[in-house]
Amino acid sequence: MKILAIETSCDDTAIALLEKKGESIKVLASNVSSQISLHNQYGGVFPMMAKREHVKNLVPVLKKTLSDAQLDTKQKEKNIFSGISKNIKLAKIKKVLRREEVLLQNIVNEIGIDTSLDIDYIAVTVGPGLPPTLWAGINFAKALSVIWNKKIIPVNHMHGHIVSVLSTDGTFFNTNNVELPALSLLVSGGHTEIVLVKDWGEYKILGKTKDDAVGEAFDKVARILSLPYPGGPEISKLADSHRQHHEAQNIFPRPMAHSDDYDFSYSGLKTSVLYYTKENDISNEDTRKLVAREFEDAAIDILVLKTKKAIEAFDPKCLIVGGGVSANKHLRDRLKNEIDIPTHLPLHNLTGDNAVMIGVSAFMNTKKAVPWNSQALHAQGNLSI
Ligand code: KG4
Ligand code: ZN
Repeated sequence: MKILAIETSCDDTAIALLEKKGESIKVLASNVSSQISLHNQYGGVFPMMAKREHVKNLVPVLKKTLSDAQLDTKQKEKNIFSGISKNIKLAKIKKVLRREEVLLQNIVNEIGIDTSLDIDYIAVTVGPGLPPTLWAGINFAKALSVIWNKKIIPVNHMHGHIVSVLSTDGTFFNTNNVELPALSLLVSGGHTEIVLVKDWGEYKILGKTKDDAVGEAFDKVARILSLPYPGGPEISKLADSHRQHHEAQNIFPRPMAHSDDYDFSYSGLKTSVLYYTKENDISNEDTRKLVAREFEDAAIDILVLKTKKAIEAFDPKCLIVGGGVSANKHLRDRLKNEIDIPTHLPLHNLTGDNAVMIGVSAFMNTKKAVPWNSQALHAQGNLSI
């Protein structure tokens, strides 16, 4: 069984092709077109600008993915009905893409309305994420669904982050690699959550952030320090170089560290950093390194603390970490050293947004497949796991 997966929940246009044989899922091809250099100039992601980029990139990224997988669309043989069927399809696609002239033209010219593709389903992220960018992916999936006559599997982006740990080599994924029930720490630009994974498809959110997500805090502190977007990797670099030469000073607070729950709060920590930088000279490189390190220590400390607490209370078989912040070296080191149950971290190329994780999630949810005009296919910015 083959699935073509599409992910456009934020600023990465990602498409992957995956095949399942028996219990094992193989990645046939995967491409991510990042918009970082564009958003870098503005210090963050503007949803409408991001959407325009997706609309431009979707067809080229699809073509590259199909060519990498050596799977091409085939021109359908013409018969007496083909002209009529082509016109009906075109009318449906025009309706779906009535506000996306560029995407419509790219599809008509580069993919072709009367083509077929040897896949079983199309998978697409429907949330959580930025509604305009989610819609770009969803409408693209709908158009392809009409052309190739394949059903669409709607996918939850955060479920994708959870299943990204199911591979140890980046090519093969297998649910047998992880024992359930698991505890999952989800840390991204939009989310900070501790989730109990009772079974694949059965989740319970134990705690989440009350305000900013941890990745968002990294991005905001990076802005305060005039570092480029996205801030996580930049802060992490400065923090690491400081940590190599200096002891921690614990300048910043650990909000909610001792609250009687599994919730988080990051806006107070960011504000403390802001006050500190107003009273100290951050044009000085050493001060910037100190701030980055002290912020990172505090931000990661809370994650580790609450994760340990949840592990003690729920006694899971393992820990799963997912989301962009799972790339953070300090977090990875601390979890490896301090968590005494098996800890599954995504490979580095699977920490950020990608379509492989959307495809893997889709294979677990083939029963949710729907036709292109289903109500299930709408952007849900705040979709919960
Ligand atoms: O999962 P993701 O790629 O997109 C969302 O779904 O949000 O996560 C992006 C977030 C950004 O806030 C980025 O700054 C953060 O992940 N991030 C990091 C690191 N790499 C990316 N945060 C801390 N340390 C890193 N090395
Ligand atoms: Zn993400």
